Amino acid sequence: MTTPLEITFARLDAAPLATVAAFVGQDLALPPAVQALNTRSQGLLLKAAEAAEFKGKLKSSIEILAPQKLDVQRLVLVGTGKTAEHDDSGWASLGGYVLGQITARKTVEASVIADVGSAGAKPEVVAANLAFGALLRHYSFRKYLTKKNGEEGAANGNSAEQKPANDRLVKLVVHCADPEKARAAFEAKRAVADGVCFARDLVNEPANVLGPVEFAERVKELERIGLEVEILDDKTLKELGMNTLLAVAQGSVRPARVAIMQWHGAKSKRAKPLAFIGKGVVFDTGGISIKPSAGMEDMKGDMGGAAAVTGLLYALAERKAPVNAVGLIGLVENMPSGSATRPGDIVTSLSGQTVENLNTDAEGRLVLADVLWYAQERFKPRFVIDLATLTGAIMVALGKDFAGLFSNDDKLADQLLAASKATGEKVWRMPLDKSYDKMLDSKNADVKNIGGRWGGACTAAAFLNRFIKKDVPWAHLDIAGTAMDAPKNEINTSWGSGWGVQLLDRFVADNFEKAEK
Ligand code: BES
Ligand code: MN
Ligand code: ZN
Repeated sequence: MTTPLEITFARLDAAPLATVAAFVGQDLALPPAVQALNTRSQGLLLKAAEAAEFKGKLKSSIEILAPQKLDVQRLVLVGTGKTAEHDDSGWASLGGYVLGQITARKTVEASVIADVGSAGAKPEVVAANLAFGALLRHYSFRKYLTKKNGEEGAANGNSAEQKPANDRLVKLVVHCADPEKARAAFEAKRAVADGVCFARDLVNEPANVLGPVEFAERVKELERIGLEVEILDDKTLKELGMNTLLAVAQGSVRPARVAIMQWHGAKSKRAKPLAFIGKGVVFDTGGISIKPSAGMEDMKGDMGGAAAVTGLLYALAERKAPVNAVGLIGLVENMPSGSATRPGDIVTSLSGQTVENLNTDAEGRLVLADVLWYAQERFKPRFVIDLATLTGAIMVALGKDFAGLFSNDDKLADQLLAASKATGEKVWRMPLDKSYDKMLDSKNADVKNIGGRWGGACTAAAFLNRFIKKDVPWAHLDIAGTAMDAPKNEINTSWGSGWGVQLLDRFVADNFEKAEK
């Protein structure tokens, strides 16, 4: 929901636009490209840096207005710190920082001189990562702001100042040694950024606008980028026997949907797919076990898992990943009403197991139980990974910077941890254990949907585990802390973070693409 930012690549010696950002390392050596703008002003720039006590430290900057002999309006010198220490996510983060510096100057077009003389990384990889971070930082959800915020003469001048005016910047030129190579390297990154922003849009959208049906419609539109999309309506779900999912939906006037996205990118159409499952509770009131009203508005983001799965499939399709992948999302609204499910209700899940619903606010696991089972039965996937804003307890355990990772398979868990390191989307492994599973035994049914007072994220994972077939590698990511209202960082200033798209895209790229090409 942001005015698109056009990112192009140009040579280092191409004429820069009026606003220029350039990098300076801790050695305080100006990049050759800046020197080349006019060698005579070099000494003056360094003099200015010294006067401002600018040392080239990571994420520090100074602005020089109308620098002498340089034909630009302003030059922002940005510290890189020790460049050799930066990995992909470090460069992306720096790209986000630069974008923030540029937009703070309310400029329409800008140049970034991506001449960083880095030891390890290839210049085009650095340029592509910088552009990737800039694109992610540029995102802001301003769809419902009708006043022209930040502009002079805006009707509501006061609140205007506080809104990010990212939309002013429309063009960013990244100057680098080999623009052709950078453009190529950026292509896949742009696809991932688009997937992240697609997910953010879904999470930020209020629940009155985005119900299960509307969410499914947005997914259906992704046929335009080459996904095969199937929407199961409430009647079909009933026929199939997805009763635990439907029990959650029955209190709402808005009917449930399950959306299935398939991406066929592998050479063989029959290669077993990778399966990703998302919790898509478009709004979670708690149902009859209703939540307190303070902060309940955040529950419009209880579809963050479904958004991430959709964003991931978006990215895989747009960058034409050579894998077969399937995304399944359960879309429901959890409402209290005369038709709502009650505490104590017993429902037969698609797997055949009966579930006693002792707390209607533990609804995400009921949705996932049926979708997980359906995915395994129909697609016989290589593994299953689910993402869900499942428990408040995961935030008690890990805070809002880490997602909880539960897995029955060490290799799968390690692959996810590696992708986490590479992308900066942090995960921490949590226990799956019989002791938690036992807490779910019910007197009246095969399983109950809540455990005891302690270890809420772990009993939730143990519940899901009951719906994973023997020998199916499975990982569950509890993203209640990270999907929305997470701490802002250089590449995300949005409430809905789109968390998980980068992690899983990287996980797929690093582990399943080379072999399948
Ligand atoms: N959607 C919530 C979890 C959540 C809470 C996500 C806060 C994001 C922010 C989930 O459906 C829920 O209500 N979980 C309960 C489970 C409990 C009733 C066993 C919880 O965590 O309190
Ligand atoms: Mn709930
Ligand atoms: Zn929920």
